[in-house]
Amino acid sequence: MDQDLNRLRDDALGAIARAAAVADLNTVRVDVLGRKGRVTDLMKTLGALTPDERKARGAALNALKDEITAAIDARAAALEAVELDHRLQAERIDVTLPVRPQAEGRIHPISQTIDEMVAIFGEMGFVVAEGPDVEDDFYNFTALNIPPEHPARQSHDTFYMQTPNGGASPKVLRTHTSPVQIRTMMKEKPPIRIIVPGRTYRCDYDATHSPNFHQIEGLVIDKTSHMGHLKGCLSEFVRAFFDVPDLPVRFRPSYFPFTEPSAEMDIGCSRAGGELKLGAGGDWLEILGSGMVHPKVIANCGLDPAEYQGFAFGMGIERAAMLKYGIPDLRTFYEADLRWLRHYGFLGIDVPSMTGGLGR
Ligand code: DAH
Repeated sequence: MDQDLNRLRDDALGAIARAAAVADLNTVRVDVLGRKGRVTDLMKTLGALTPDERKARGAALNALKDEITAAIDARAAALEAVELDHRLQAERIDVTLPVRPQAEGRIHPISQTIDEMVAIFGEMGFVVAEGPDVEDDFYNFTALNIPPEHPARQSHDTFYMQTPNGGASPKVLRTHTSPVQIRTMMKEKPPIRIIVPGRTYRCDYDATHSPNFHQIEGLVIDKTSHMGHLKGCLSEFVRAFFDVPDLPVRFRPSYFPFTEPSAEMDIGCSRAGGELKLGAGGDWLEILGSGMVHPKVIANCGLDPAEYQGFAFGMGIERAAMLKYGIPDLRTFYEADLRWLRHYGFLGIDVPSMTGGLGR
């Protein structure tokens, strides 16, 4: 082979061998094989040769070109393998690391219970609605058919606030979540299907009452929902929530100013030996208040009670949590005692759903 081709070969193969990265190989490729590269330049000189010379030198040039291309490809493959190795080393996850200590935090039973209730009603098509803790007297009482001087206001003795500038509707800390019924009906067109978990306030304090507690409210308004739907919906709920598929239920006539008829719902239990057991025995335990929304309440919200109807219900969240998880004293919910929270709290992976797994 001609001297110049030999030199070119040595230069190129040397540069390829020295290439430390794929980028260096590209430089060699351009310098040698590119449009202005050394092999290409030599190809251009073939035209000046005799046919025999051209044949021999052309073949030699092509062979050289193939050899250099193969060398570049081989080196590129080797460099890529090295780069991959480096990456695999650098991005390696050491699966032999010991398990980290379990997260310290716990989900408070109130949050967990709200999540469970919302999961169950959510699967029935309810959406969550919210309202303010500091309510107008109008939404908390008057619009719910509890006019001033109504005796029901006494049983809801609460925290009234000074009204700035002598405003017409005094502010109260809401005594129940029912005012969100009013707020929703005044701003949304039926069909309405809401669930309202939230804080509520009353002047009460003992083992089963706290001045700040939580309720969950439900409201269904459309043209056809009736007492049968109320019973079906709530029976389904308590059975899913307490995870007792055949939990006995009963509805007792009751009175609430904002429902007509009104009913309280009891679940079957036994108190044998002083121990409360849900689902067993012939005893009953009150769990919630409910009823068909009073036509006056529907009208107070600007809807026509001849066209729309539906049902509502409300229940205490702490009470439900105490029953389900065997927590004896309501006041302990608010004491922020870490030992209590470690005992009664939940882990982030205790995700509730309607298909079992609600209890532990
Ligand atoms: N708001 C009632 C209370 O706090 C509970 C209640 C009863 C809510 C009946 C309702 C209902 O929506 O229909 O005592």
